[in-house]
Amino acid sequence: MNKAGIEEIKVEGKRVFVRVDFNVPMDDQLNITDDTRIKAALPTINYLVENGAKVILASHLGRPKGKVNPKYSLAPVAARLGQLLNKQVFMAKDCIGAEAEAEVNHLNNGQVLLLENVRFYQEEEENAPEFAKKLADLAEIYVNDAFGTAHRAHASTEGIARYIPAYAGFLMKKEVDIMGKALENPSRPFVAVIGGAKVSDKIAVIENLLKKVDILIIGGGMANTFLKAQGYEVGKSLVEDDKVGLAQELLIQAQTAGVRLMLPTDVIVAKEFSPDAPSRIVKVSEIQPEEQALDIGPESSEKFAKAIIPASTVIWNGPMGVFEMAPFAGGTEKIAKAMAECQGATIVGGGDSVAAVEKMGVAEKLTHISTGGGASLEFLEGKVLPGVAALQDRQ
Ligand code: 3PG
Repeated sequence: MNKAGIEEIKVEGKRVFVRVDFNVPMDDQLNITDDTRIKAALPTINYLVENGAKVILASHLGRPKGKVNPKYSLAPVAARLGQLLNKQVFMAKDCIGAEAEAEVNHLNNGQVLLLENVRFYQEEEENAPEFAKKLADLAEIYVNDAFGTAHRAHASTEGIARYIPAYAGFLMKKEVDIMGKALENPSRPFVAVIGGAKVSDKIAVIENLLKKVDILIIGGGMANTFLKAQGYEVGKSLVEDDKVGLAQELLIQAQTAGVRLMLPTDVIVAKEFSPDAPSRIVKVSEIQPEEQALDIGPESSEKFAKAIIPASTVIWNGPMGVFEMAPFAGGTEKIAKAMAECQGATIVGGGDSVAAVEKMGVAEKLTHISTGGGASLEFLEGKVLPGVAALQDRQ
C-alpha cells in the first residue's frame, strides 16, 4: 500500500481520531452477536494506546438515516471494546459539539474514547464539509482503520482527511495489501470462486477478475443464468432473464482471455424453497420444469475443490447455494473445506461466505477474511475506494 501508516508518525500525547468500522450485528436486546470487526481493530487501538496517544474512536452503526435512535447507539460496543482491551473505554453521548469536546479534553495519554454514532447526523453520509471539519477539530491526526466502510465517501471516512493529516491503520493496510497483492501480483495458479444469488450484483467483479485469474468458478443462484446462457433449461430456478445475454458475453470473454470458467455440472433441486422440501441430485441437463436448483451437486463441488486445493491464490466471494438451509449447505461447505486445505493464499472477500467459513470452523486456516462486505466487493471490482484514496501517500 502506498499510503502512509500510523507506525510512521509520532503519536505520543496527540489526539488521534480513528475511524473504525464497528457496524456489528446485534440482537433485539442489543447484544453484539459477532464482534469480529471490533477484534479486527484492536491492533491499531492497542498500538496507539501503548504509544501514548489520546485515542478518539468513531464509527457508524446501522443506517439511522441522520436521526438519533437509541437502537443504533454505540454504547454496547464501548462495553465490549472495554472487555477486549481490558481497560476503560469512555463513551461520548455525541460525536461533535460541546459534549464530545469535553470528553476529548478529559483524555489522558493512552486513554480511549468512543464517540456516538456518526450517522446520527445526516451530514455524515452527505459528506458535508462543515461536519467533517467539526470532527477534524476534535483531533490532530486522523487514522482510517475502517476498511469495511472505505467504499463510502462520508465525512468521517473521506471529508475529514482534508483537514488533518490522514494515515492508514493496521487493519486498513492489511486488507488493502493482501487483496491488492492477489489482484495485482498473484502467485499462480490464481482461482476465483464467485457465488451468491444474482449475476447483476457481481458483473463488475467478474469482468475485473477475468483479466486476472487462471480459473473462475461460478456457483450459487447466479450460475443458473450462465447455465441458461449455455442453453440448459433450469426450471423454476432463480434466473435473471435480462442478464442471459451478458452471461453469454462473459463466457466469450473468459474464452478469449484463456480463463478456465467452471460452472456446476450437477445441482441439488427441490420443488419448494424450503429446508423440508424433498430434494434430489440431478445433472444440469435434467432439471425439470417444476424444480429449482438450490445448491451445486457433489460432482460439481468435487471438481471445484480439485481446482481450489492446488491453487497458489484463491479469492472467494458468495455462497454456492442456500447454505442457511441444511440440505442445501453441502456445496458451500465443500468450498470452505477446500479453502482450508489449500496451501496457497486463501482470501474470503466478505459477506455470506464469511458466515460460511465461520460456521464450518475453518476461519483460522485461511490467510485472510475481509471485514468488508460492500467494500471488498468494490475492491475486487478494481475500484479506488474513497476512504483509501483520501489518505496521505507515503513519502
Ligand atoms: C458494512 O457493513 O458493509 C459497512 O459497515 C458499511 O455499511 P453501509 O452499507 O450501511 O454503508
